[in-house]
Amino acid sequence: MTAFDVLHFPDERLRLKATPIRKIDSQINDIAHNMLDTMYLEGGIGLAATQVNIQKRIVVIDLSENKDEPLILINPKILKFEGKENTQEGCLSVPDYFDTVERAKNIEFCYETLDKKTITTKADGLLAICVQHEIDHLDGKLFIDYLSPLKRNRLRKKIDKQKTELQRSKNYKSIPEENESLNKIL
Ligand code: NI
Repeated sequence: MTAFDVLHFPDERLRLKATPIRKIDSQINDIAHNMLDTMYLEGGIGLAATQVNIQKRIVVIDLSENKDEPLILINPKILKFEGKENTQEGCLSVPDYFDTVERAKNIEFCYETLDKKTITTKADGLLAICVQHEIDHLDGKLFIDYLSPLKRNRLRKKIDKQKTELQRSKNYKSIPEENESLNKIL
């Protein structure tokens, strides 16, 4: 098992735009599986390559309870957005922060698989939210970009404060708060 390090906001590398994959080969296969390992280890339900400092259009998702239904999306693209939905989101690159974001309720999207098939499908609910969140990552966008400047400012202060505390205490450990959204870290 190989896990990558996950970049954290405000790392500027999270703003890089990922490039399309032209050839799906063993290197892409390895990256995708290491991304799955990383996502499971970190307790997320979705991960984009941008978050592990790889600027390639790869997304992994697993919404299943037992973490045994991995979905690997190569060059994912949303073809249709319909309706609106407000959901509380979190992100492995923005630890311990959750907020409500408006997304399309239903989407139609396409992607390539590791065995080079092109799939076009529809999604709603959590999968639709997750696909939108992860494709945003590939375009250098974070869910907190949708928040009001006031909320973003507050988050920035919170992160600065955490950094100060971290420097003060070598034994600092982040204790996740009990939060029903912990299973929605995208
Ligand atoms: Ni995320």
